[in-house]
Amino acid sequence: MEREKAYNDWNRRDATPCGMMKHVECPEFEREDRLEMLSLLPQWCGKRVLELGAGIGRFTGALAKEASHLTTVEWIPQFVSENKRRHSDDKNITYICGDAMQTEFSEGSFDLIFISWLFLYLEDNEVEELLRKIERWLEPGGVFFVRETCALKRVNPSEKNPTYYRTIKEYDKLLSSFVLKKEGSIKAWIDYMAQPFSCYWLVEKPSSLSMRPAISCIPVRESIKTPPLSK
Ligand SMILES: C[S@@+](CC[C@H](N)C(=O)[O-])C[C@H]1O[C@@H](n2cnc3c(N)ncnc32)[C@H](O)[C@@H]1O
Repeated sequence: MEREKAYNDWNRRDATPCGMMKHVECPEFEREDRLEMLSLLPQWCGKRVLELGAGIGRFTGALAKEASHLTTVEWIPQFVSENKRRHSDDKNITYICGDAMQTEFSEGSFDLIFISWLFLYLEDNEVEELLRKIERWLEPGGVFFVRETCALKRVNPSEKNPTYYRTIKEYDKLLSSFVLKKEGSIKAWIDYMAQPFSCYWLVEKPSSLSMRPAISCIPVRESIKTPPLSK
């Protein structure tokens, strides 16, 4: 099962900010990535926030600072311990150590749900299932922010790398029951790694059925989606 491989892979990794970004030994890049991600979020002051796949909490402190309450979910116990240690002064955080796929919350529990790299480690049917839950857990009008690494052509997990790199179009389709507010590429990855595939989506749970978007309304980043013509 791919999820078990993903667990074992993460269980061997360093509980450090750079470890969360895999192999990237670059504190300035980590900082730029983190600050840019946070700048893309709508105001979350006084909101109920859920962070899935929180790792050691690169975003946890900033999210908790403004939120009325933050719930984090992470399945690697040593990452959860490190997150708790780093944010021991923040009293409005609930840390859940467990598999995001096994987690349950009641309907409308959150105003903002935040993911920085999690769908990469889930099979397509699991992403679909989790998205249905995310939609249920959000209050109508609540927002979901997700960043995942994409690829021009889909790449499935290998022995060495238990990661699904999906295309931007695949994510557009997966997210099509939400209302798209904003999408793009994280600039820090372009600047530091010449890599335009660190992609994000900010979407909203429709407040009523009439707000449900038609798929054709969703703008696309043609420059990335269309492979360059060979000369
Ligand atoms: C690339 S790291 C990102 C961590 C953090 N969100 C960040 O951006 O720094 C992915 C995290 O998701 C966690 N993760 C992967 N699959 C998970 C699952 N099914 N349930 C809970 N956590 C999971 C990993 O253990 C890891 O901490």
